[in-house]
Amino acid sequence: MYEILAFGVLALVYGVTGLDNGLAQKPQMGWNSWNTFACNINETTILSAAHAIKNSGLINFGYEYVVIDDCWSVKSGRDSKGNLVADPSKFPHGMKWLADQVHALGLKIGIYSSAGTLTCAGYPASLGREERDAALWASWDMDYLKYDNCNDAGQNSQQGNIKRYTAMRDALAKTGRPILYSMCNWGVADVWNWGAPIGNSWRMSGDITNNFNTPFDGCPASAASGYGCSVINILNKAAPIVAKGGPGGWNDLDMMVVGFSNLTPDEQQTHFTMWAAIKSPLIMGHDVTKQTWTTLKILTNRNILDLSQGSWNIATRTYTMGDVQLWQQTSPDNVERIVMVLNTGAKDRNMTVPFSDIFGGDSEREAATYNVTELWTNVVTDEVRAHIDIVVRSHGIWVGRFQPTSGIQHVDIVRASPRRRSDEHQAEATVSNSSGAEAESEVESEAGVE
Ligand SMILES: *[C@@H]1O[C@H](CO)[C@@H](O)[C@H](O)[C@H]1NC(C)=O
Ligand SMILES: *[C@@H]1O[C@H](CO)[C@@H](O)[C@H](O)[C@H]1NC(C)=O
Ligand SMILES: *[C@@H]1O[C@H](CO)[C@@H](O)[C@H](O)[C@H]1NC(C)=O
Ligand SMILES: *[C@@H]1O[C@H](CO)[C@@H](O)[C@H](O)[C@H]1NC(C)=O
Repeated sequence: MYEILAFGVLALVYGVTGLDNGLAQKPQMGWNSWNTFACNINETTILSAAHAIKNSGLINFGYEYVVIDDCWSVKSGRDSKGNLVADPSKFPHGMKWLADQVHALGLKIGIYSSAGTLTCAGYPASLGREERDAALWASWDMDYLKYDNCNDAGQNSQQGNIKRYTAMRDALAKTGRPILYSMCNWGVADVWNWGAPIGNSWRMSGDITNNFNTPFDGCPASAASGYGCSVINILNKAAPIVAKGGPGGWNDLDMMVVGFSNLTPDEQQTHFTMWAAIKSPLIMGHDVTKQTWTTLKILTNRNILDLSQGSWNIATRTYTMGDVQLWQQTSPDNVERIVMVLNTGAKDRNMTVPFSDIFGGDSEREAATYNVTELWTNVVTDEVRAHIDIVVRSHGIWVGRFQPTSGIQHVDIVRASPRRRSDEHQAEATVSNSSGAEAESEVESEAGVE
């Protein structure tokens, strides 16, 4: 009886069950080569990134997959047996060797192809060759596949998409190797409605770019796909479909642009918080061999990572009012809340958020008293009642954890306090920047990360 109840609650919370391959029970974390290197990759660039993820300490915070994007193979075609060939000028030691090197660092490795006749950069792709290609990647000990959507041979209806992406799911399963399956079909054909039993994650929008909130014609607000999409454009598109994600299958809001200079620290914090809270995969794209201390501190903030990897439910948007958005995550027992207030406008704002906005209609919770911890600064305000006064800088975010000090009865079915990824790792985890300096990773109680 107990188990049935618990299952019922989990099913209600997540709504869907993702691909049943045991992977991505929490949103995957890692790094992808495209946004820094595009086609200019080789074994040095990939291995240097892997070493940087280890040496900087990012590995201790869950950043795990090192994903090789487009342009890794011989462009002119396959070998005489029909196999893809790693470009020997870029990967002179071959892909199995590279995978061994990455694994020896304690990391995992990913590869790339397209559900089409050619990849987006015009390299041989996998449509109709799914089993052959999956077997090759498995023989190289690949752990992850990013599977793009270019050159789809006209199979772009919903049926065509399902067929193309299912073929690779089945081919990966047939290898017997656990390979995380990251579908990259840019949100076309409402992938969030059918992606969960097929992939471990699915891109739900056009490509992100290094831009917080500037509209761009290539990425209309109304259409799912496109390119040059800003952080806030993607966030707004994700808002109605957040509930489609769950363990094993996540909405992918695209690679993070944290660490790119076009975004201010406030913008990067807002972006990182929301990707974590919506439980998008957290895939870095910046040059991890040259990152600043500010970038590292943002990406390793334990409080924020916990919104993604801990037991909090997926964030939902309560409202948008002009430049202000209010989002919330609940704890599994619905006793605690994470409240996020974003300010996408050009001016800093002092705001009073009444509890009726947060707990709308729930008189017991509206009347309760809370200790509130702002998660970027760790500033605690005790015994807050009725409303909270906050300052949210332009393009910034305020993230408050509301812990009731009185009154709220929890339902003790899936009682769980927010989990840390691993207590052992946590005790030792430090980060260091490119100068080799080391520091405690835990958020310091002094103000923010600026
Ligand atoms: C890889 O590319 C980098 C940057 O373009 C270059 O410096 C390096 O020599 C290349 N290494 C190999 C093995 O091709
Ligand atoms: C590395 O960290 C040290 C110590 O916190 C700091 O003084 C230095 O500016 C940082 N370097 C970079 C490149 O961020
Ligand atoms: C917010 O309030 C503080 C003090 O209460 C004041 O110093 C500051 O100028 C206000 N900021 C804005 C943007 O109104
Ligand atoms: C709330 O803060 C008060 C004052 O610091 C403290 O005594 C109390 O234990 C806190 N309650 C919770 C639930 O954190």
